[in-house]
Amino acid sequence: MDANPDLPPVEDEEAGVMGLLEVDPSPVEQTPIEYKEKSYFPDQQRDGEGETEETRGVRRMNTLGLRLGDHGTAWWLLRIQKYSSYTFTAFAALHITNVSIIPLATRSVLESNRYLLLTRPYYQSALTEPLLVGIPLVAHVTSGIALRLWRRRQALQRYGAETRTDKRTIPWPQLSGTSALGFALVPLAGFHVWTTRILPLYAHGDSSLINLNYISHGFALYPFVSFTGFTALVGVGVWHFVWGAAKWMGFEPSQVKSTEDQKDLVRKRRRYVINGVSAALTTLWLAGGLGIVGKDGKMPGWVGKEFEELYKYLPIIGRW
Ligand code: HEM
Repeated sequence: MDANPDLPPVEDEEAGVMGLLEVDPSPVEQTPIEYKEKSYFPDQQRDGEGETEETRGVRRMNTLGLRLGDHGTAWWLLRIQKYSSYTFTAFAALHITNVSIIPLATRSVLESNRYLLLTRPYYQSALTEPLLVGIPLVAHVTSGIALRLWRRRQALQRYGAETRTDKRTIPWPQLSGTSALGFALVPLAGFHVWTTRILPLYAHGDSSLINLNYISHGFALYPFVSFTGFTALVGVGVWHFVWGAAKWMGFEPSQVKSTEDQKDLVRKRRRYVINGVSAALTTLWLAGGLGIVGKDGKMPGWVGKEFEELYKYLPIIGRW
């Protein structure tokens, strides 16, 4: 290339513009420190001993998508807990419609029974009942208990607990409000399923006689137990479902990102929204369940007698 006569003389022909040396591109010989360490941020660098199977599972899922067989125990338990709740949500939607929304709309228990019987085959057939209700419920509860035991085991390992005294001094993993509600729901829902489904099968050979009048009859016989029991069942159940759903959607107050502006305000707002939705759903469920079904009174005739026979099986209450 000829030298431009208008520019000052260039001492080095290899030098580029403004006297800088032009260098051919070449591969980087040394990996920069941030690539070597996987991440620039220290909290994501932990590997090997520092990282729990739980965090590894969650991170791999986030960055690499599905890599089956590569996840920790806690990851699998969390997946079971999450996906088992989906099918039960479908049942709960059907159930609130049958036992509350339709009674509220028709203002008649007799009329509402027709809709209950219409949809019953969808959740009480030999195939759908275990798939929609039984298996998901058992999977959801057992995975929750297993997850807690697993986290406890990890805490003991991490702190090197050897003796009984060591174990006693290490606290159990904190129980979240949603988990506590879930554990409280087990005896409430268990008693409800036992009275509406298992007891009739055991005592009468089938539960086809069971309908909303059976519940109304129970309210008339044992008003205090029925009102408090159903209020607790619906309240605890709905609060558990709504907080649980908020968690799966990443909407829990504790899931507000640390980078978010006005974190406290956002957390507070989320708490209000979740509790507001829970209160609205509980009110709706109780308005139909208690206000219409609970007030319909006793069932006359032989069907009423059959109901009474069933209620006699109840421990303590049945002998009143
Ligand atoms: C006022 C509220 C409620 C009323 C009046 C009510 C009524 C009933 C009735 C009549 C049945 C008999 C089965 C059928 O549908 O034919 C039943 C079953 C059942 N209920 Fe409820 N229920 C209420 C709340 C709840 C809540 C909050 C839950 C959830 C925690 C729940 C869970 C179940 C389950 C799992 C079954 C057994 C379903 C099956 O295996 O077929 N119920 N309920």
